[in-house]
Amino acid sequence: MASRRPYVGGNWKMNLDRNGAVALCRDLAQETLTLDAIQIAIFPAFVHLDAAHATLALAKSNVMLGAQDVYPEPDGAFTGEISIAMVQDFGANHVLVGHSERRHVIGEPEPLIRQKTRALIEAGMTCVLCIGETLDQRESGDTNAINESQLRSALRNLTIDDPQRLVIAYEPVWAIGTGRTATPDDAQDAHKHIRAVLADLFDENTANAIRIIYGGSVKPDNAAELFSQPDIDGGLIGGASLKPNDFLSICTAAQETSRAEGVST
Ligand code: PGA
Repeated sequence: MASRRPYVGGNWKMNLDRNGAVALCRDLAQETLTLDAIQIAIFPAFVHLDAAHATLALAKSNVMLGAQDVYPEPDGAFTGEISIAMVQDFGANHVLVGHSERRHVIGEPEPLIRQKTRALIEAGMTCVLCIGETLDQRESGDTNAINESQLRSALRNLTIDDPQRLVIAYEPVWAIGTGRTATPDDAQDAHKHIRAVLADLFDENTANAIRIIYGGSVKPDNAAELFSQPDIDGGLIGGASLKPNDFLSICTAAQETSRAEGVST
């Protein structure tokens, strides 16, 4: 993966109380100081962003802070929603968009995912756009077609000035939180196709610079093999990101892959 700096995200979902979030931030801040060849971001619940930001800042941590969602409008009558400026105010510069739980549990439609993606890129935030097929779609052989249509829908007519600020997370829905993982070969096939779609949407250089990460039951014992695939540039980690030792092992696997492949830091 030549010059792409691996990216590991910890998606904490709707977990932890305030004390738990602070304790996890403290553990990670301590232990990640030497992991300088990769980019690490954590995505706590909105209500814990402030405490997480303060804890990471106090520890002079290089772990980035992210939000699990935002609303694309700058302000107004959108009860219950949170704007980009609001999460920036709490120190978050990375945001997840289109996570499968938002698409399939909450029912978020593709046009809204497109608006969020555009608003984030225009605001200079790092947008982690999640895509992936359901089990039925995989079994019908539609994995690449679904990934392609989700990508084309979310990224339509978008200009990318800084490819570091767009991360694509390929997360097969059937692998999230289930303990089932795509095989490294299947994941690599999907990532390769995603990169080809990005080259068609933007250009070859941009596509080669965008990180494409894998998510879905990544654990310490499968991370290294997944991350060593040529088009897999790290991972989006759910369950294992709540266990500091597991998350650190996964980050270390990404760091080792990047060292082995000579990524300049
Ligand atoms: P998981 O979640 O690692 O628990 O499968 C991944 C995700 O939802 O991003």
